Amino acid sequence: MQIQRVGVVGAGTMGNGIAHVFARSGYAVTLFDVEQRFLDRALDVIAKNLARETAKAKITAEQEAAALERIMPVLDRSRLGDCDFIIEAATEKFEIKAEIFRDLDRIARADIVLASNTSSISITKLGALTQRPAQVIGMHFFNPVPVMKLVEVIRGLATSQSTYNMVRDLAIALDKTPVEVNDAPGFVSNRVLMPLLNEAMYAVMEGVATAPSVDEVFQLGMAHPMGPLTLADFIGLDVCLDIMRVLHAGLGDPKYRPCPLLIKMVDAGWLGKKSGRGFYQY
Ligand SMILES: NC(=O)c1ccc[n+]([C@@H]2O[C@H](COP(=O)([O-])OP(=O)(O)OC[C@H]3O[C@@H](n4cnc5c(N)ncnc54)[C@H](O)[C@@H]3O)[C@@H](O)[C@H]2O)c1
Repeated sequence: MQIQRVGVVGAGTMGNGIAHVFARSGYAVTLFDVEQRFLDRALDVIAKNLARETAKAKITAEQEAAALERIMPVLDRSRLGDCDFIIEAATEKFEIKAEIFRDLDRIARADIVLASNTSSISITKLGALTQRPAQVIGMHFFNPVPVMKLVEVIRGLATSQSTYNMVRDLAIALDKTPVEVNDAPGFVSNRVLMPLLNEAMYAVMEGVATAPSVDEVFQLGMAHPMGPLTLADFIGLDVCLDIMRVLHAGLGDPKYRPCPLLIKMVDAGWLGKKSGRGFYQY
């Protein structure tokens, strides 16, 4: 099937980045969120990010204008009905995604693929909520979406080969690099990354070193572009905690126990960069 119009559900950090890359690659985009202010904010961010790409000569002014024009913001979910592919990038809560997948299954044509950008929720479980589990898949972009090359393509237990092939080819058409992963808590990226961040938090909590010292060890000793605690602040400490809880519950191993300092910081509303305070002050 020729994909012309792509639906993006959720216009937050990831949804606006995903809408940006699809529009930049020539796809028409229907961007859905639950409130007008989220759509306005997303279009504003996309416009600024496209303008930055024009200023860096990555795209032309004509391409910038054409990309913006391809994005249609909507508040009515039924308007996703004419999309040839839909990707969900809403809040990382199972109940929210479950409701969206049941509804998309009703709204979308029977032949189209439904993808989720989830960081940790089971693709198999989301697929089982629909009448089309063979056409449900994970398409996991990384932040910032217009810049990061990787797309983890996650097969649920029931995901078909043709669904996988379609999403792999779609990632390539967006100038991204797809990597095939099977469905398991945290997939590969967060299963390996989050315990590293969590362990760095334990090191701070136990007084092994300060946050800047832990970060310096990773930047200077392992050539990481930023240390694990800066990265945790950027991701959002609430997001880190949610993912650790998914790993802990899903894999059952105590090594995934969320660091008590992380829990305490989230309880205090210290969520990292977005709240102005985390392991660092912003
Ligand atoms: N932030 C990251 O670095 C990152 C990286 C990879 C994957 N993800 C995943 O992407 C998804 C979105 O994360 P984000 O960081 O963009 O979150 P975000 O909080 O920035 O945006 C979420 C958006 O979803 C919207 N939303 C909530 N309920 C909705 C509903 N019922 N229908 C439609 N929209 C709804 C919210 O209004 C909000 O605009 C999550 O599944 C997350 O795990 C995030």
